[in-house]
Amino acid sequence: MTPAHAHTPHHDGSHSHHEDHDDSGQAEILDLDAEVLAEHIASITAWLPLKAEPRRIVDLGCGTGAGTFALLERFPEAHVTAVDASAGHLQLLREKACARGVSDRVRTVQADLDADRWPDLGTPDLVWASASMHHMAHPDRALRSVRELLTPGGLFAVVELDGFPRFLPADAPEGRPGLEERAHRATDSFHAEHVPHRGADWGPMLTAAGFDVEDKRTVTVDIEGDRSAAIGRYAHGSLQRIRGAAAPALSPEDLTALDELLDVDGPHSILHRDDLAVRTERSVWAARRP
Ligand SMILES: C[S@@+](CC[C@H](N)C(=O)[O-])C[C@H]1O[C@@H](n2cnc3c(N)ncnc32)[C@H](O)[C@@H]1O
Repeated sequence: MTPAHAHTPHHDGSHSHHEDHDDSGQAEILDLDAEVLAEHIASITAWLPLKAEPRRIVDLGCGTGAGTFALLERFPEAHVTAVDASAGHLQLLREKACARGVSDRVRTVQADLDADRWPDLGTPDLVWASASMHHMAHPDRALRSVRELLTPGGLFAVVELDGFPRFLPADAPEGRPGLEERAHRATDSFHAEHVPHRGADWGPMLTAAGFDVEDKRTVTVDIEGDRSAAIGRYAHGSLQRIRGAAAPALSPEDLTALDELLDVDGPHSILHRDDLAVRTERSVWAARRP
């Protein structure tokens, strides 16, 4: 595939649920993210300040199930209600649940969490939302809905990220060092307009919605020297996804170099590099419903 056919980016995590044709590209990235960052996600589920093992969990904006499956593994007695606007993501999640033999512990619900009223999601003792609250048009309203949904004393875990990880060394690619950082910066105005809450500090908003914010933790991801193909695919998918938003603000030389990295058949393909890393951060807030 040539990079010229890269998807129009709604992403770097951002998503419009009105554009289902774009879901399969996002699904692949979400799956790679879950695979590459599995240990880090597990460290977050292990850290949650829970008073008792949760039995009823809701995963809001579950995507293809990164959090759902991490939670099912961490809490073997729990059932998860996985909620997303994307029918395609939910279908993939159900297929995975079958393959892993846990379909009796997962219920999927297709819903628009921006809607005034949410469907019946039960009375969870843990609600998990990873990289999804920043998609809400009215995050304050969504946070209040979560407060009402949770059982008193229950925990809301909000996981946030700044965007796609960085993969390339600073001196790469040859001739255009620092290209990756420039490509990300070139998407800043796009993201400021379309996903203004991405990378937000959720603490004050959670407090304003009536939660007691009990703890916050930032997990630093720095995977070096792992030559797995998944990291190459993750790097390729991530850069491909930001290309459209970055292109108007990149110099022609940078755009050419970016397209060379994205050209999987070309000699400069990012898939052929053996110096990729994964550098990113995930922050998590643990908020209790009083
Ligand atoms: C960046 S993905 C994160 C997926 C998953 N939580 C994870 O950590 O891999 C954001 C998810 O939120 C979903 N989403 C975005 N807006 C939504 C809305 N208004 N209602 C329900 N889901 C939404 C998207 O379909 C997507 O699956």
